[in-house]
Amino acid sequence: MSASRRAFITGISGQDGSYLAEFLLSKGYEVHGMLRRTSHLSRARIDGLCERGAASEGCLQLHYGDMTDSMSLVRLMRDIQPHEVYNLAAQSHVRISFEQPNYTAEVSALGVLGMLDAIREFQHQSGQEVRFYQASSSEMFGNVQESPQRETTPFAPRSPYGVAKLYGHWITVNYRESYGLHASSGILFNHESPRRGENFVTRKVTQAAARIKRGLQKTVTLGNLEARRDWGFAGDFVKAMWCMLQQDKPEDYVIATGSSHSVRELCQIAFEHVGLDYHDYVEHDVRFERPAEVDHLLGDARKAREILGWKPSICFKDLIVMMVESDLKLAAK
Ligand code: NAP
Ligand code: GDD
Repeated sequence: MSASRRAFITGISGQDGSYLAEFLLSKGYEVHGMLRRTSHLSRARIDGLCERGAASEGCLQLHYGDMTDSMSLVRLMRDIQPHEVYNLAAQSHVRISFEQPNYTAEVSALGVLGMLDAIREFQHQSGQEVRFYQASSSEMFGNVQESPQRETTPFAPRSPYGVAKLYGHWITVNYRESYGLHASSGILFNHESPRRGENFVTRKVTQAAARIKRGLQKTVTLGNLEARRDWGFAGDFVKAMWCMLQQDKPEDYVIATGSSHSVRELCQIAFEHVGLDYHDYVEHDVRFERPAEVDHLLGDARKAREILGWKPSICFKDLIVMMVESDLKLAAK
């Protein structure tokens, strides 16, 4: 691959953005990331990357912008002239989307439209092809119509986040079909890592297990323990994003591990790893439940396996142990 290939990542300060930036840098890309003015709070995930400069690796440059400011997207497309755009920015928390539905729609739905229009405008002006990845979500399956879910499963979102993501998904399909954009959506099931935001359930639990073990916290309060998710490792999932943009034909792909577990099992594994019984530490509060819950997500990633050659490398238990170990180290600091 040419060393001058340029990628533009929105949401680079998030979990996936940091893994994707690392992966693309290791492939020799020139990586550009969009930050918000307030992103300094979460820049820790990518601070190390800014200082990296091995000759065999690409470089990272950061720019200010915002998904709700379409002119900033137009300007960044003009300045960066990327070959690949990965749109990862979103208000990505499902429960918060019930409290901020309007904002969630602006960022996670209309923001996608703004990005697609900025790409079209740039392609038209420059004649350079831009390949686009949209971060779609298994939350779009919501009240699931079949199990496991695959690319052809009808959508039935159960949250303002899911509805916003569905708009982003369909507008990506629409721009592909209407204007011939090389635009692909990855319908990604839940994926986690030690860099996961602290208010998502896996990280909330692994952090609590570690802190309780170290005597820094007494209990953890959760919502629905019976919900089931198909949880994978973020480091694996960002590779699928890249693979999609290397295909001649843009398409949509489900990315999932194909096995699901409950929040209760998550608690059991995390606490067991530090020698504790979760029954003694996990409390319940309806505040952490959602007005409408998605009970069970389970993905069928056969298409990705067959066309992209993608498969997950880490099982659920190893993932949770990896996260607890990382949180034990953080708690020791
Ligand atoms: P994350 O850690 O919450 O990161 C979200 C990113 O979006 C952050 O960099 C955040 O910037 C940025 N952002 C939020 N609002 C923005 C705005 N108005 N303008 C510009 N940037 C904005 O999410 P993630 O887990 O990495 O997920 C990445 C993407 O995949 C998201 O679109 C998410 O919805 C989607 N997705 C995630 C999963 C999953 O399980 N992780 C599954 C399916 C789909 P700040 O640092 O400034 O807040
Ligand atoms: N966050 C959270 N906090 N979730 C809890 C809690 C709690 O205290 N207690 C139980 N849960 C349950 C939720 O009700 C949900 O059923 C499940 O744990 C997972 O919640 P999250 O970790 O917040 O993830 P999510 O599935 O709602 O959304 C994530 O995955 C989507 C893909 O399906 C996010 O990363 C989304 O951005 C992503 O699109």
